[in-house]
Amino acid sequence: MNNYQAPQDLLAGKVILITGAGDGIGAEASRTFAAHGAECILLGRTVSKLEKVYDDIMAAGGKEPSIVPLDLKGATPEHYKGMADTIADQYGKLDGVLHNASVLGHLSVFKDIPVDEWQEVMQINVNAAMYMTQALLPVLEKSPSASVVFTTSSVGRKGRSFWGTYAVSKFATEGMMEVLADEYKNKSVRFNCINPGATRTSMRASAFPAENPETLKTPSDIMPLYLYLMGDESAEVNGASMDCQPK
Ligand SMILES: NC(=O)c1ccc[n+]([C@@H]2O[C@H](COP(=O)([O-])OP(=O)(O)OC[C@H]3O[C@@H](n4cnc5c(N)ncnc54)[C@H](OP(=O)(O)O)[C@@H]3O)[C@@H](O)[C@H]2O)c1
Repeated sequence: MNNYQAPQDLLAGKVILITGAGDGIGAEASRTFAAHGAECILLGRTVSKLEKVYDDIMAAGGKEPSIVPLDLKGATPEHYKGMADTIADQYGKLDGVLHNASVLGHLSVFKDIPVDEWQEVMQINVNAAMYMTQALLPVLEKSPSASVVFTTSSVGRKGRSFWGTYAVSKFATEGMMEVLADEYKNKSVRFNCINPGATRTSMRASAFPAENPETLKTPSDIMPLYLYLMGDESAEVNGASMDCQPK
């Protein structure tokens, strides 16, 4: 599906929420979904970055997006419930969620992981996705065919030294997706994971500062799989963890 050629109107009529929409892969996914007809809800913590993506979408002739400024670190289940109610009032349904926002934390040996950093990474990468998904399920169920895509990593499938907190958070992400996919099989909401693979973003640069970014795929290069999983051609795909850059 990494060579998937999406029809230009693939996401016409769909409302899709993207977390971490201001930068990296989330910004590119937002622009790409909008270019294929979606109404995007751009969620992130840095308003100026979200406004830039908003401007890009408008300049390209896309449907006007909404902006939801929210720091996942401090957000509570009540915030997500309020957001879900607003989406239900404004759009009547939600057809897609891309859980993309994550933090890396610092790479360190397990015995030196600071407890406060462990809690912060779990809060942003795992708890926020759980609270948000739980709050959004009723409005996702109003869509005839909704797709929830979580973002994983190769270290979320096979643990790797020094990647402790981030790796465990991605194992939890894969587990959350599998539980939901099993509960919702044969229903109108499906759940899958995407592993972007090494991609030219600021997160990748902070993990591999000595690497030449020119050697990496760009967020734009990996968009075919994101489009495939958001569009109805993947309606039968549920419970899969898919790679943008299979080895
Ligand atoms: N790049 C890779 O090579 C790679 C490989 C495997 C998996 N991934 C996964 O792909 C996803 C996107 O990564 P990326 O490389 O695009 O990362 P990125 O460039 O660092 O972008 C992450 C986005 O998440 C947002 N975010 C972080 N913490 C947040 C919080 N507390 N509240 C709200 N938003 C928050 C950031 O907001 P700000 O802009 O305000 O900081 C940013 O927009 C992540 O889930 C990552 O784990 C990436």
